[in-house]
Amino acid sequence: MKKSAKIAPAKGSLGVLTPGIGAVSTTFMAGVELVRQRAALPIGSLTQMGTIRLGKRTENRAPRIRKFVPLADLKDIVFGGWDLFPDSAFEAASKAGVLDAQHLSKAAPLLKKIQPMKAAFDQNFVRNLHGKHVKKAKNKFDLAEQLRDDIREFKKRTKVARTVMVWCASTEVFLKPEKVHATLDDFERAMKENHPAVAPSMLYAYAAIQEGVPFANGAPNLTAEIPALVHLAKEKNVPICGKDFKTGQTLMKTILSPGFKARMIGVSGWFSTNILGNRDGEVLDDPGSFKTKEESKLGALEYIFQPKLYPELYAKLYHKVRINYYPPRGDNKEGWDNIDIFGWLNYPMQIKVDFLCRDSILAAPIVLDLCLFLDLAQRAGLRGIQEWLSFYFKSPMCAPELYPEHDLFIQLMKLKNTLRWMMGEELITHLGAEYYD
Ligand SMILES: NC(=O)c1ccc[n+]([C@@H]2O[C@H](COP(=O)([O-])OP(=O)(O)OC[C@H]3O[C@@H](n4cnc5c(N)ncnc54)[C@H](O)[C@@H]3O)[C@@H](O)[C@H]2O)c1
Repeated sequence: MKKSAKIAPAKGSLGVLTPGIGAVSTTFMAGVELVRQRAALPIGSLTQMGTIRLGKRTENRAPRIRKFVPLADLKDIVFGGWDLFPDSAFEAASKAGVLDAQHLSKAAPLLKKIQPMKAAFDQNFVRNLHGKHVKKAKNKFDLAEQLRDDIREFKKRTKVARTVMVWCASTEVFLKPEKVHATLDDFERAMKENHPAVAPSMLYAYAAIQEGVPFANGAPNLTAEIPALVHLAKEKNVPICGKDFKTGQTLMKTILSPGFKARMIGVSGWFSTNILGNRDGEVLDDPGSFKTKEESKLGALEYIFQPKLYPELYAKLYHKVRINYYPPRGDNKEGWDNIDIFGWLNYPMQIKVDFLCRDSILAAPIVLDLCLFLDLAQRAGLRGIQEWLSFYFKSPMCAPELYPEHDLFIQLMKLKNTLRWMMGEELITHLGAEYYD
């Protein structure tokens, strides 16, 4: 099966807009700049470091992904964004405390130039933040119009050829899809009526899609995962994906659990707890935002273990997730997992994982890959939900009739096969029978 459409070349600059100029987005921006200066390596980025096998194993063809598909070059990326605090990206990065002084000073000339645009913000959705750098408007529709103006103004000012948007702002309170999210008409009416089920993140997603800008959601908020916006994305030929960057603890979960299942090892309990002290941790200290995160973190095991198919092994799994705001740790989160497993003849065993991770260091390369792949997707004529980018998310968006695929290794295979398909290469099934004929 070969994809016939041609991929437009990555000519000109690529604008990257991030709602949220915080720990993740500034670590991403600074990292790209350091890589451009050849002062660091883009470790953790599949687009920059990864290779892709093509053809038979005997052909020895394994180019770098960035040589195989026409991705934008890092030197062509131009940054912009919004925040409810007026700090430049340099001040925000200094406060976030992720990068050391040497890295910060090398990235400073770039970061100092990035001033946030005023945010579309509503305290009802993120209760623990109190910033003043916010837009005023008569209703939510008007706010979305202002965001669209910002996007157009950014494009004009920077002369970028293409633009993508990645939500790197705080986690909003938990929302479920409702009637007002069903169609574009319903949604636009709800914006005009200031309906409480229209979150600021939805306004950014709406503005991006209306402006033809691909959109990724790095937080667990509902945001673009509503029929009105999914349909709009298809209609406007805009690729979208989400939700919630898969970084520390959930990354470990989706690495370990497919292994247990592959070997038919039972799991009776999985207790995960975290301490973190960055602004994200402070926001998640509010029960409304925590609920959104908790739902996102709980989903993965249920889908990977398929308890309906393997009731003896996983039906009784007790899964609990806790996040504790603990300021001394800053961005350096510690995630503990206690996993109660059982093997042959039901004998119990335990596994303990203690992951001393750096949240934004794990998230930054994901932001980069999403920008480059979403831009590629648009140039390749793909639109709507990009399930092949599930690899990067804790709660992957997929077609309503499907269940999401959480297994990291299946996600990677899907991503690479999508690239092969885009480029007219044979898909790899790992059958390999021909080697033994
Ligand atoms: N770092 C990770 O490993 C990781 C993993 C998964 C998801 N996330 C999510 O990524 C997001 C960013 O994380 P972070 O550590 O950079 O947080 P952060 O608090 O450092 O930065 C978020 C920024 O967004 C701003 N903001 C909030 N609402 C806004 C709005 N409506 N418009 C514009 N700006 C707004 C805040 O003022 C803040 O500066 C969070 O939602 C977090 O849950 C992070």
